[in-house]
Amino acid sequence: MTLPPSPSERLIVALDVKNRQDALGLIERLPGASIFKVGLELFTAEGPGLLREIGASGKKVFLDLKLHDIPNTVAQAVRAGAGLGVRMMTLHASGGREMMARAAEAAAQVSAKERIPRPLLLGVTVLTSLGDDDLGELGLSGNAQAHVLRLARLACQAGLDGIVSSAREIKAVRRETGKDALIVTPGIRPAWAASDDQKRIMTPAEAIRAGADFLVIGRPVIRAADPQEAFDKILEEIA
Ligand code: C5P
Repeated sequence: MTLPPSPSERLIVALDVKNRQDALGLIERLPGASIFKVGLELFTAEGPGLLREIGASGKKVFLDLKLHDIPNTVAQAVRAGAGLGVRMMTLHASGGREMMARAAEAAAQVSAKERIPRPLLLGVTVLTSLGDDDLGELGLSGNAQAHVLRLARLACQAGLDGIVSSAREIKAVRRETGKDALIVTPGIRPAWAASDDQKRIMTPAEAIRAGADFLVIGRPVIRAADPQEAFDKILEEIA
């Protein structure tokens, strides 16, 4: 897997806003950003029309819906996302090998048929909101990190392009998946930004050094008085 060509394509801005107007306003204030993450809240509120609008403005979409369903349903959702020109999508690795393999197959088929770039599929392992006790309650023994690594390996074996990994786990995930997997990391805080509710944070430079290919950053950019200036400062740090 080749790395994105420029540092600005490695910095994904999380569009954690409530509606289309706020999302498009933010994109307008960030002319230097090229990939925007649309999550469950915004997608549920505004639907695929917003994804088309973002695409039409020349920006790429990372659709973070963390799909988890039977293989056929997930494959069809990936097909729909690929058809919308989405550049990256997430799915839960705990959906199992067949679910992920069928999703990868669907993404490849749509891109070949429509002659569009194949969306990159990223596995979500264990949600960072879950600790060892929560996993125990779900009947999963062993610690969270062991599950993260097992699911990361399975996701790559099943044909996904990479993994969403917390900053703290980048190195271990990289060891598990090898150099070709893409690692996408949220929980990034430049030294000058507030940590907000993120606990296990890393600076952009630290995360890149640890082996992340893409960084996801929200509040330090989208809540800045000048989002483009904040984005540029982070770019400088990782360039
Ligand atoms: O504002 P902030 O930079 O903390 O936003 C990070 C983004 O990454 C949010 O959209 C958040 O939902 C997402 N995310 C995260 N931690 C995870 C997975 C996703 O912060 N483990």
